[in-house]
Amino acid sequence: MGSVMKRTDMCGELRIGNEGQRVTVNGWVQKRRNLGGLIFCDLRDKTGIIQIVFDKDVDATAFENADKLRSEFVIGVTGIVREREAKNKDIPTGDVEIFADGLSIYSEADTPPIYIKDDDDVGENLRLKYRFLDLRKPHMQKNLKFRHQVTKCIRNFFDGEGFTDVETPMLIKPTPEGARDYVIPSRVNQGCFYALPQSPQMFKQILMVSGMDKYYQIVKCFRDEDLRADRQPEFTQVDIEMSFVDQEDIIAVQERFLTKLMKEVMNIEIQTPFQRLTYKEAMERFGSDKPDTRVGFELKYLNDLVKDCGFGVFSGAVADGKDVRGINLKGCNDRFSRKEVDKLVDLIKTFGAKGLAWVKMGEKVTSSFAKFMTEEEMSAIYERMEAEEGDLLLIVADKPKVVFDSLGFLRRELAGRMGMLDRNQYNFLWVTDFPLMEYNEEDGRYYAMHHPFTMPNPDDIQYLDTDPGKVNALAYDIVLNGIELGGGSIRIHDRQLQQKMFEVLGLTPEEIRKKFGFFTDALKYGTPPHGGLAYGLDRLVMLLSGSDSIREVIAFPKNQNAVCMMSEAPGEIDQAQLEELAIKVDLPAKDNESEK
Ligand code: AMO
Ligand code: AMP
Repeated sequence: MGSVMKRTDMCGELRIGNEGQRVTVNGWVQKRRNLGGLIFCDLRDKTGIIQIVFDKDVDATAFENADKLRSEFVIGVTGIVREREAKNKDIPTGDVEIFADGLSIYSEADTPPIYIKDDDDVGENLRLKYRFLDLRKPHMQKNLKFRHQVTKCIRNFFDGEGFTDVETPMLIKPTPEGARDYVIPSRVNQGCFYALPQSPQMFKQILMVSGMDKYYQIVKCFRDEDLRADRQPEFTQVDIEMSFVDQEDIIAVQERFLTKLMKEVMNIEIQTPFQRLTYKEAMERFGSDKPDTRVGFELKYLNDLVKDCGFGVFSGAVADGKDVRGINLKGCNDRFSRKEVDKLVDLIKTFGAKGLAWVKMGEKVTSSFAKFMTEEEMSAIYERMEAEEGDLLLIVADKPKVVFDSLGFLRRELAGRMGMLDRNQYNFLWVTDFPLMEYNEEDGRYYAMHHPFTMPNPDDIQYLDTDPGKVNALAYDIVLNGIELGGGSIRIHDRQLQQKMFEVLGLTPEEIRKKFGFFTDALKYGTPPHGGLAYGLDRLVMLLSGSDSIREVIAFPKNQNAVCMMSEAPGEIDQAQLEELAIKVDLPAKDNESEK
């Protein structure tokens, strides 16, 4: 194998201005064609592709070696840049080629199991198994470089604003973010386990107690939860905490940061202040606490109009204390046939919806329920929903959560299918005034909606004992185009109030001491008022790079089953290791149906 040839230029950077220069490039063979006396080879490095020509009459040895080249061989080439006869308008180097007079083959390659090109349409698991090849694709290289630009901007910005980057531990006691923990057995403390942090929440608050004043960290977090396109078991947060601030201070810093980021990495000027919606308003208008405002189709409340109507589904729902709400897909009647509208209900069954009532405002109005209604009642619905010819009305009657989830999903999903969500529009907004706690009927207790360190709104504290569900939090989420980009809150800095929160959440004094003893201790010795927020970095990069999944912006992600297809993690460990950890694995008996 040849020794390294000193590189003078990158493949993708050669232009007509380089004509006549002697250059040396290194890279991977994209493809090779032998046309008798000439061999053409496309050579690729991280900057792009350049065409190389080997001529039998110029350098017979190089020509002979070039004939051995196959896809993904790694080579060095030296030669003269010259103008191409047949220009290739599709690539930036398409006006030139390297007329080679030297070739060094550094390493050979087996036939790659996936093509190294962006539009290679193979299954994602195969891509992840051969991630080392997948990452060679131009769009993956671009995504990783873009992510680097984003993190560089984050570091510059927060450094400039006086934040200190502090690392927090990865082996910790369980955190209370609400997902399952990943746990790590301790060898030196047999029978004891660490948890991997779901977030550095308690540590960053303790850094405020310690007088750090302003902290940030780009940090890995771990959550064992059901995976989706925007969720990974290990993901990265941009984690932020500040002392002596209120909600407005925190929001102001974040708006400055996002403005700078959008300018620097996207060259887009965004307008501040961002739109703000309270949680209640977001739910009532958009059916979601992370509304996508790139499209209208807002929800309309219909209870008062249908409470006495002849359609039992509606009037019955109102009588049962449920909601009847609808959305108007303006001008979209023609986009869905009657058959397709009837099928839409399948999309919302997962949210618990039992049906979807509709009105197609075509030249002739058709509807799944108008026959049960009077003309006046239908007119009142049309008026409320601002219905005109050409519109499609969709209505759901159910428990508020089911109605919100169903219509919230439909308005965005259908807008997406109709191509109405512009990828180049960036609607940042804040959702504020979240409820502090949510009641879980199955468990018969309240859970913190965000986490138990969130400050109740001082105006509502009186209800903490009597009606905790009524208490709002000083909590806020930052939302971009229907995705929760980040969330945060003002924290409780009063130890009595923190104790009370734990109690309302149903923790006994013993549990409080065991789980949070170190934290409540820290609050005893002088705690500044503080608050913060954390962004999901993967989600931010996904949205700004126009990717459909966070796996496209993570070098080595896990698949939907939390498996790394490349390294095959997680794996079993050997008996000796288990013994050191004093762990016995007791798997449920294998389902041997197939053997029967
Ligand atoms: P929260 O739980 O809202 O807040 O998380 C903050 C942000 O992290 C991102 N995120 C995820 N991204 C990818 N995969 C996941 N599994 C995943 N889970 C969360 C989201 C989310 O908005 N400690 C608090 C923050 C604070 O109060 O300061 C916290 O972790 O974009
Ligand atoms: P039916 O009388 O069963 O033919 O129902 C008339 C229409 O009401 C159909 O379009 C159903 O999908 C719809 N429907 C049934 N249950 C609900 C509900 N909970 N909310 C909205 N529409 C419903």
